[in-house]
Amino acid sequence: MARSNYTEILKYAKEHKFAVGAFNSMNMETLQAVVSAASKMNVPLIVQTYHAHIDYAGADYMRALYEVAARNSNVMIAMGLDHGRSVEQSRLCIENNFTGVMIDLSSKDYDTNVYETRKVVEMAHAKGISVEAELGTIFDADESPEKIATGYTDPVIARKFVMETGIDCLAVSIGTAHGKYKYTPKINFDLLKELIDTVPCPIVVHGGSDVPDEDVIEMVRLGIAKLNVGTDFFNAYTQAMSRILTEDGPNADIIKVMSAARAAVEEVAMHKIDLLTKFRI
Ligand code: 13P
Repeated sequence: MARSNYTEILKYAKEHKFAVGAFNSMNMETLQAVVSAASKMNVPLIVQTYHAHIDYAGADYMRALYEVAARNSNVMIAMGLDHGRSVEQSRLCIENNFTGVMIDLSSKDYDTNVYETRKVVEMAHAKGISVEAELGTIFDADESPEKIATGYTDPVIARKFVMETGIDCLAVSIGTAHGKYKYTPKINFDLLKELIDTVPCPIVVHGGSDVPDEDVIEMVRLGIAKLNVGTDFFNAYTQAMSRILTEDGPNADIIKVMSAARAAVEEVAMHKIDLLTKFRI
């Protein structure tokens, strides 16, 4: 199945009433695991790589892995930069033919965010590549729900931002956070619904790891377009490696270690996809 950009996949998902998993991958095993899960469940997928992991692995290496994954899978696959930190990093991924880039300048002032995001939109759209940006603050998951709530996305500003930048999807702050939660997350479903109903582009929720299943299902029911998940995969990966190394010792067979890690990530991906496709038609 051919590579697709975010816009094509999010449109298809909207028509078929499911939310797209945007699963963070950073090497061959994590990528094979999430693509295998999507293929088995016959659902399009966005695979994306966190900005620091792009720095670690190289955009060209990730692009080569993505290309093989997309070619070998039977579903639409998009490949993206997650939380791009600068116009330069976005440009690198655009030049490497990713099909989506996120430019995250949410920590900058509004005008800078608009100005720089527009530059990325111009470059990306010229090549049919989708752009995601972020408004509000998505904290780390060791913060309290009260602190996380201070970062909520303002719907009025969000509508203006989307019109002024021409982005294809918007990441919002509605109570989720990145990482493993210290406290039970408190999702503001009313705010999420207002954003989904009034912002003129698909809405993306970050921090999809460790969120109670019923909350994920409710977000899908309300109509989120894309759910980003990272930590759950990486924790499953390292825990599986650690289990084999504990059982078999430091000279454990490398294929046994890596295949256990890959299988653990695939199992998490299947579960997440099951939640995201509860209302699929
Ligand atoms: P988690 O690592 O909390 O799942 O968040 C992933 C994410 O939002 C990537 O953009």
